[in-house]
Amino acid sequence: MEHAIGSIAQIPPGEGRNFDVGGLRVAVFHTRSGKVFATQADCPHRGGPLADGLTDEDSVVCPLHDRVYAFATGAGIGTDCSIATYAVRVDQGTILLQT
Ligand code: FES
Repeated sequence: MEHAIGSIAQIPPGEGRNFDVGGLRVAVFHTRSGKVFATQADCPHRGGPLADGLTDEDSVVCPLHDRVYAFATGAGIGTDCSIATYAVRVDQGTILLQT
């Protein structure tokens, strides 16, 4: 099911924001080059807020203990933790997320 969850203008490039999608907490990231990714909101290690983490074009660093997760797959890089990812796209400025 596809959900319109907000405007991409809410997320400055290079940052992430949390959204509640029917009770599911999702972090949406807007990279500096304009790509958009969505993952679970909380780090599986100890619940760090991933939307507040440092990002690059391909990954986010958890702000609590620096675990790194790939946006494309949710796989941990250098850790055996991994996170859920969601298909997301932007149409005319609206973020559309698949659950
Ligand atoms: S809570 Fe994310 S690395 Fe510890």
